[in-house]
Amino acid sequence: MLKNISIDNKIPPYNKKIQVSSDKSLSIRAVLLASQAVGISKISNLLESEDVLNTLKVIKKLGINYKKKKNYYEIYGFGLNGYNPKNNTVINAGNSGTLGRLILSLLIKTDKKIKLIGDKSLSKRDFSRITKPLRLFGANINSKKNSLPVEIQGTKFLRPINYVENIGSAQIKTACCFAAMNSPGKTFIRARKSRNHTELLFKYLKIPIKIKSIKEFDLIEIKGLQQYSSFKYSIPGDISSSAFFIVLTLLSKNSQITIQNVNVNETRIGLIKILLKMNSKIIFKNKRVYNGEKTADIFVKSSKTLKSINCPSNLNSSAIDELILCFLVAAKAKGISTFKDLGELNKKESPRLDISIKFLRMIGIKVLRNKNDIKIYGKPNLDLKKKFHIKNFLKDHRIFMMSCVAALALGGNWKINDKDSINTPFPKFLDILKKLGANIK
Ligand code: S3P
Repeated sequence: MLKNISIDNKIPPYNKKIQVSSDKSLSIRAVLLASQAVGISKISNLLESEDVLNTLKVIKKLGINYKKKKNYYEIYGFGLNGYNPKNNTVINAGNSGTLGRLILSLLIKTDKKIKLIGDKSLSKRDFSRITKPLRLFGANINSKKNSLPVEIQGTKFLRPINYVENIGSAQIKTACCFAAMNSPGKTFIRARKSRNHTELLFKYLKIPIKIKSIKEFDLIEIKGLQQYSSFKYSIPGDISSSAFFIVLTLLSKNSQITIQNVNVNETRIGLIKILLKMNSKIIFKNKRVYNGEKTADIFVKSSKTLKSINCPSNLNSSAIDELILCFLVAAKAKGISTFKDLGELNKKESPRLDISIKFLRMIGIKVLRNKNDIKIYGKPNLDLKKKFHIKNFLKDHRIFMMSCVAALALGGNWKINDKDSINTPFPKFLDILKKLGANIK
């Protein structure tokens, strides 16, 4: 199988309805929460990508069985601290920061020693942001250089904590919530606002949680050691996967698309808010609410009149995985766009801020950088003719997919390495592009 793809033509105009894969954040959370519920949970529309399959493999290694049925997965939980691993078990989170960080928080009570490893990209990422609060709960953790491998051995003598999460990281917030659920007493977390799937799932599962919103922070209180019952859950489409098609459509000529049944939770739609400010036509249709999560069909039309944005940094967290696509839209917008406080972007699967700046300069866009702030000088008539080769991006799936969008919308002759990277979040990505009419070899 070829590991690289070539794109030599823009995508012809299209008018289609599509469905993207299920939400990755919700899929991982649903599996992990099912693994500590009491009884058999049934999860339908689970995303079947490497990150989620690795989540299933990890819970299996920890002694939790699951079965794939025709339309759903059954997960057999034994309640809080119901894992039963062998001593010195090694678990592998692969490429997934979410899995790696969240699973540690569910192991703070285990009496066995567990070693967490990951792939080359995950092994470069910071784990101190998780081990710091988990140590406060009382867990014993060994890690060199604040990165993987991390060894954890839980303790029976857990305590609740007071914690301030100031980055706006849903992974840190969720790790604190999961650890609090396994600890006695009440834990208080003051968390800068970020995606809130965990809080909504806690409410749905009746795990005692109180939330008070104060400006850009949420004050979260969790009462620990309350067993919860198994559950049924159905996962909607992923806004982060939809984002590539939204931007492709905006930047292409005479096209329109409807993306059906997408999770449009308020804490995830920073991309849409940014694109609306840039004069795009995006409409939510068929709005529904499912277990606290908002879903809708997203309708998008090509736009000839995109304008620049002075992006408020309080949108960064709700657009964190989509910012690289916003930069691409800014490249084709009229005027100079500014984005600020982008430090977190360099802590993702690859240093996405550095790579995005290189990428934009490569396609002829002027970018000025001042530490973690950037200015993008848009060119509305951007039309690429040259050859481009995308390589050495640590197989970061979002860089791969963003490069495909750039190639199909802006032209040029592209070779893009490591197509396997899409297997971690969105294996159907290239198939959907081909159905829209893209010529990809
Ligand atoms: C995620 C949170 C985000 C995001 C990641 C998934 C989650 O990371 O980038 O893709 O599911 O909680 P941070 O919380 O570290 O910003």
